[in-house]
Amino acid sequence: MVESTEQAVAADPHVVAGLDHWRSLEAHQQPPWPDAQHAASVSAELGEVPPLVFAGEVDILRDRLARAARGDAFLLQGGDCAETFAGATAEAIRNRVKTILQMAVVLTYGASMPVIKMGRMAGQFAKPRSSDYETREGVTLPAYRGDIVNGFDFTEGSRTPDPSRMLQGYHTAASTLNLIRAFTQGGFADLRMVHSWNRGFAENPANARYEGLAKEIDRAIRFMEAAGADFEELKRVEFYASHEGLLMDYERPLTRIDSRTGMPYVTSGHFLWIGERTRQLDGAHVDFFSRVRNPIGVKLGPTTDVASMEALIEKLDPHREPGRLTFITRMGADKIRDALPPLLQATKDLEVQPLWVSDPMHGNGMTTQTGYKTRRFDDVVTEVTGFFEAHRSVGTHPGGIHVELTGDDVTECLGGSQRIDELGLETRYESLCDPRLNHQQSLELAFLVAEELGRR
Ligand code: PEP
Ligand code: CO
Repeated sequence: MVESTEQAVAADPHVVAGLDHWRSLEAHQQPPWPDAQHAASVSAELGEVPPLVFAGEVDILRDRLARAARGDAFLLQGGDCAETFAGATAEAIRNRVKTILQMAVVLTYGASMPVIKMGRMAGQFAKPRSSDYETREGVTLPAYRGDIVNGFDFTEGSRTPDPSRMLQGYHTAASTLNLIRAFTQGGFADLRMVHSWNRGFAENPANARYEGLAKEIDRAIRFMEAAGADFEELKRVEFYASHEGLLMDYERPLTRIDSRTGMPYVTSGHFLWIGERTRQLDGAHVDFFSRVRNPIGVKLGPTTDVASMEALIEKLDPHREPGRLTFITRMGADKIRDALPPLLQATKDLEVQPLWVSDPMHGNGMTTQTGYKTRRFDDVVTEVTGFFEAHRSVGTHPGGIHVELTGDDVTECLGGSQRIDELGLETRYESLCDPRLNHQQSLELAFLVAEELGRR
């Protein structure tokens, strides 16, 4: 099955030829580089650097995602809204990896299902913005578009897009990915370390609940070991890197033809998604990502209609290849129960099986009177439960969640059992972009999703 799809794809001249066709289309959300020649020379340099991921890994991931689309696995995708260069420290990376590993354990144990672990990490540096400019106290400057484009400081120098940041983005992604690989291949992620991932986080009810679960896992492992099982396999975990495929001058040069298959792969990460603001059918992003072999995600907001979803399927997954296409829905807590079922029903009628993933973050933003961008934990929960309900009612598979989180004890989202309130946001608000779930809120959400998965 996969082999014949492989052949069908390879035989399709659309796929390899025209890798630069996007240049003749409108590419939204690209920075106005002040010096186009500088941007071109940085892009050329990026065309020569080693790839960050190997095409073979990308193919394995596609296979894993196909399982999740069938309902036999679950995708956990999480990380910062916007990674920063300064934030790529050992401690921050370790805390994020630990948080994702903990959530994965909660999900695997609660749902008895393999969990695909994927970071919004090692490349999540470019941000789409609703406005090109930002005004503060009468001064207007270009909006912050992520560290790979310009700086967050509100000065003209910092906000001017600087192409050399793309090289820094590449190197920061490389060192982040290197540490992730070391953690996940070198024994740190061994399931026998399940307790140690909880150490160093502040005590709270979610951590205590996790400890209880870790004890049960420990006991089960010790029993199996005593019974002679070989747990060498537990030493290493697969961990995939993903980010929004947004900045074309970065993604295109990091796209390489794989010598095994002769096909183009974006090698800046394993999985790329097209954002809500750049998924125009006739736009540059959809065209470009339609021609690469990586599994591709598309964000779907509440205004998505069935016809445009079907057109996206046709364009991005013409061969209906298992694992190729993921729809990441971000409808909003009050809309998902109306907006999602018709889309699910349409795929069922068409007999196509994309992977359905819930992003319960991006449809639930709000700004407090004190000026903080935040989200209510309750809204996040309401959207996730709405996602599961919609799938139960139509008979499709809820295949994953996509969350903005950090392993740190920040105070950016309201609520959770810590009951962070509007005043509390001031305590530790660090995000340069969207508010993230903190460590405790992330674990709480994992327990909730595990319960939903257990109900299926
Ligand atoms: C994001 O994932 O950070 C994002 C910008 O999402 P969306 O495209 O869904 O708005
Ligand atoms: Co975001």
